[in-house]
Amino acid sequence: MSTGTESTAATAGLRGVVAAQSAIGDVNGEEGKLIYQGYDIHDLAENSTFEEVIFLLWNGRLPTQVELEELSSAIRENYEPPKQVIELMKQYPKESDPMDVLRTAVSSLDLYDPKGQGTDRESAVGAAVRITAQIGTIAAAWDRIRNGKDVVAPDKSLGIADNFLYMLRGDKADAEEARMFDIALILHADHELNASTFTTRVVAGTLADMYGCVTAGIAALAGPLHGGANTAVMKMLIEIDDPAKIDAWLDDALANKRKIMGIGHAVYKTEDPRATWLRKFSKQMSDKKGETKWFEMSQRIEQLMHEKKGMYPNVDFYSASTYYLMGIPLDLFTPIFAVSRISGWTGHILEQYANNKLIRPRAEYIGKRDQKYVPIAER
Ligand code: COA
Repeated sequence: MSTGTESTAATAGLRGVVAAQSAIGDVNGEEGKLIYQGYDIHDLAENSTFEEVIFLLWNGRLPTQVELEELSSAIRENYEPPKQVIELMKQYPKESDPMDVLRTAVSSLDLYDPKGQGTDRESAVGAAVRITAQIGTIAAAWDRIRNGKDVVAPDKSLGIADNFLYMLRGDKADAEEARMFDIALILHADHELNASTFTTRVVAGTLADMYGCVTAGIAALAGPLHGGANTAVMKMLIEIDDPAKIDAWLDDALANKRKIMGIGHAVYKTEDPRATWLRKFSKQMSDKKGETKWFEMSQRIEQLMHEKKGMYPNVDFYSASTYYLMGIPLDLFTPIFAVSRISGWTGHILEQYANNKLIRPRAEYIGKRDQKYVPIAER
């Protein structure tokens, strides 16, 4: 019997299936190109700021100076989450995974935002500003809380990247590190219909509010095959620990069909353009900290994986050693991904609301048919 669906055998994981029209970002996997609203990622990384990219993703064009100042100050005015959200976080078990904390706390922001439920453009942008402003505050506050330290209040004179590092460490980052981190946020901002962004669009398609959509996106991002890979890369490097052991370790891992974290991509079949920047940052941080081991190990793994499997590093590969050398705890790497990707998620949610259709695909039924109910006593 025809179900009106095509066989899923050829589309496991929905690879290659076009599931939405979007003007936000495009990934060209063959050429290794990534654009946001028509702008090449290299151009944006070179010249823009994360706040400018947020405006671009939400509005489809770069802001004027006045528009950028308006958005930046709206975000800065909203850095501080409702007190209750931080107070509640102090009750969470201290060993909680930061992504679980982020998901729970971001979800709870909804309870304190009387204007956050609307899906009209004005209400949704308002909620997007508040979540974008507060997600970093929550991630940084959790690291302080779990370590028994005082939460550092956000500094409204600082941009998102700078302010995040300040709230995490209690000290202001130097200009070089702040700019590097700002570019890292630009690089992670959007990536078309990746798993978490698709999730946010599916939830938005039901006309659930911005907080619900973003909460679902955080849940999807937490998985090790998605945003969790950056932490896994650093754990792998720490496990190997010695540059001299790489070759043997990798042979053994490949013989045991182990996946090498941070390598390979569902879309890119050549160098991920984001990895080009992060490789540079990893080297820059290695030189700055005088600790070259992690960069050297990463380079050797990259070289061997290219020789043996024809594979390339993805965005997570060099962000791992970059963040590690910046002194960021391993399990905050994925929350940092969320602090950036919130811009792409909210952009896609706004786009979905603006031209909504409930997302409701079909499944190819492969179960039994014509079963007859047997009373429980007779089974
Ligand atoms: N290390 C070793 N082998 C790998 C690999 C890796 N990182 N990634 C893919 N492969 C191999 C698979 O084992 C498979 O081999 P096989 O055909 O002999 O079974 C083949 O390449 C295809 O793998 P598949 O998982 O189907 O490719 P994909 O395009 O669907 O996967 C990823 C993309 C990202 C899920 C995959 O490359 C991966 O798991 N990478 C590590 C996790 C990671 O870095 N994720 C972050 C992505 S931004």
